[in-house]
Amino acid sequence: MSEFRVTAISSLHAEFSVPGDKSMSHRAAILGSLADGDCVIRNFLPSEDCLNTLNAMRALGASYHVLEELAGYGPSGLRIHGQAMKLSVPGAPIDCGNSGTGMRLLAGLLAGQPFATELFGDASLSSRPMGRITVPLEKMGAQIETRGEKPGCAPLVIHPAKLTPITYDMPVASAQVKSAVLLAGMFADGLTTVIQPAETRDHTERMLASFQVRTRQDGHTISIQGGQVPAACDFTVPGDISSAAFWLVAAAALPGSRLLIKDVGLNPTRTAILKVLSRMGAHLTEVVHCAQGEPIGNLEIHGASLTGTTLLASEIPNLIDEIPVIAVAAALASGRTVIRNARELRVKETDRITTVVSNLRAMGAEVEEFEDGMEIQGGHPLHGAELDSFGDHRIAMAFAIAGLFATGQTVIRNTECVNTSYPGFAHHLEAILHHRSDAAAFSLPTLSHA
Ligand code: S3P
Repeated sequence: MSEFRVTAISSLHAEFSVPGDKSMSHRAAILGSLADGDCVIRNFLPSEDCLNTLNAMRALGASYHVLEELAGYGPSGLRIHGQAMKLSVPGAPIDCGNSGTGMRLLAGLLAGQPFATELFGDASLSSRPMGRITVPLEKMGAQIETRGEKPGCAPLVIHPAKLTPITYDMPVASAQVKSAVLLAGMFADGLTTVIQPAETRDHTERMLASFQVRTRQDGHTISIQGGQVPAACDFTVPGDISSAAFWLVAAAALPGSRLLIKDVGLNPTRTAILKVLSRMGAHLTEVVHCAQGEPIGNLEIHGASLTGTTLLASEIPNLIDEIPVIAVAAALASGRTVIRNARELRVKETDRITTVVSNLRAMGAEVEEFEDGMEIQGGHPLHGAELDSFGDHRIAMAFAIAGLFATGQTVIRNTECVNTSYPGFAHHLEAILHHRSDAAAFSLPTLSHA
């Protein structure tokens, strides 16, 4: 079982890039496999979650050729041979591992196929709610059995069905649900419409446009006409802002530090963390160098003494994955930080309200827990502690960052889960712990097969 051992740092001066965006890599594997022809995907994230989705698409008939590899992890450059919307019967149940995105998007894709498929996942994924996608997909005519021990949970058995389009008013603001319905809509005759209660990450819509699949957007409502075949296209995945977030918080909370994160995705539906860190007092500059498709650019941050803030309800969907590390920033800030309207945290890889509160308290922070969030009274010095990741990648990484500010040593156990989203995190952590600011210390080893 692997672990992180972390002690306090006194400075952070670094420039590097983080691996590719997880949300976009799932979608690139799916849309590249549905396209009519070959697609080159660069900077694909070879994390366990995305590799499971890529393997799922291979089991459904797509093939790919590896162009580049992140050594020790898997392909980061791929040529996918798309199947022009024609999937084949998988030979076995499909393993989605730990990934809610993988399972929910694949369920949408498979709901309207003329064959049956089973999707399963690990213990965490098997306890997460699937009703949020089975309800709209069944309204479209899908036949989905949830065979989990917990009602409404995976494994999912998706029977052959012919779908009819619907207009679906989503009860939760979820990009996974929106994307599952849009992917199902691609296989239904007519116009499928999803109405979101709030803006959620729009990578599916943007990537569909890159593959020349037309969608219509009116406020938070998105429609797709079924039967369109994605045109082959090449796609470069920007760095994952959710991975960058860990280092942004480390730099933000350390006065005198300077960090430059290069080539990171700056899609406005993902950048709410930047507003929050600026409000807390960090000095941030965002330079967008490509604004087409998915915005991509550099982020420079200078540390400061942070002060607490209140997260706005409207910001929550656009920073939901960053809340564990924002809670760490809050513990390091002076004053009170309020995180409410975030009940969705309870159904992530772990119940992230419980796991964040428990680890913050173990380090000496003052935190009050609510059903839909927490309030953190910052400014209490953190002390090193022995912590568990609870098998949740973002908990492992958020508390590695907390350890950089604590007295004594912080040990985070059970850190293999980090590979579900950030291969190379341990390498970057080592470079920062040992104050190595040369580029070589941060570059992750790649192998070229072109
Ligand atoms: C994701 C959407 C979010 C996010 C998850 C990735 C996506 O989940 O938390 O990590 O790629 O669509 P919800 O759609 O459940 O909010």
